[in-house]
Amino acid sequence: MFGFGLGDRVARLFRSRIDRLIAAVRADGLTYLGEDRFSVLRGALAEVDAARVKGDVVEAGVAAGGSAIVLARLARPRRRFAGFDLFGMIPPPGEMDPSEAHQRHAVIREGRSEGLAGRPYYGYVNDLFGEVTTAFARHGLPVDGSGIRLVRGLFSDTMPGELPATVAFAHIDCDWYDPVLLVLRSLAPRMPAGGRIVLDDFNDFGGCAKAVAAFLAEDPRFALVRSTPTGVLARG
Ligand SMILES: C[S@@+](CC[C@H](N)C(=O)[O-])C[C@H]1O[C@@H](n2cnc3c(N)ncnc32)[C@H](O)[C@@H]1O
Repeated sequence: MFGFGLGDRVARLFRSRIDRLIAAVRADGLTYLGEDRFSVLRGALAEVDAARVKGDVVEAGVAAGGSAIVLARLARPRRRFAGFDLFGMIPPPGEMDPSEAHQRHAVIREGRSEGLAGRPYYGYVNDLFGEVTTAFARHGLPVDGSGIRLVRGLFSDTMPGELPATVAFAHIDCDWYDPVLLVLRSLAPRMPAGGRIVLDDFNDFGGCAKAVAAFLAEDPRFALVRSTPTGVLARG
């Protein structure tokens, strides 16, 4: 009579499976996200689920695949997951990004960036797309091209044809002003009321926060509902 109901037990079991998956992808060197950032992703997606917002889960900026694997696990089987990335050398910042961003990119370009858990930095991996596909399978989430898709190429080339028709939740983790603004503008017409967009770089480099301000000025349906440790936009 003092025990939890079946629903509570199932929810706790699912939460602890996700805790273990986050620990596993971090130990595997597949992500730069700390637990606080994963906690924002989980919380925002839980809000979307609780409000029964229809649509898929998208990530713009997959890199080695860590946050994408966790998002795909949280999405499946009720929602489909699509991860977008160049899967190659990190594109440079543009004129709207501050000097800090250009300095960071110079470190990457000159081969001085270090990977995690003994791995090479993901930007220097020859077949990053193949490695990420293998990492998904290793963590129990095969990339099947429908329920879980990885889309390779510049966002400007791939998003027009490959974004799902309806996106309930998106994680934007692509560092600089231009891609953040492009992805926000691409997602906006596809996101129903109640949708959420998490912006990993809101407090990093400067370009992302500037892009968010430009986007909010042109689309009043969206509001910033959280600003630390990452940004969260809600579609009203
Ligand atoms: C910081 S990493 C993503 C980190 C990842 N979410 C994690 O779990 O650690 C940013 C990624 O965005 C990709 N990216 C940035 N701009 C892009 C663009 N315009 N088109 C495609 N990919 C882009 C980079 O190649 C890089 O792999």
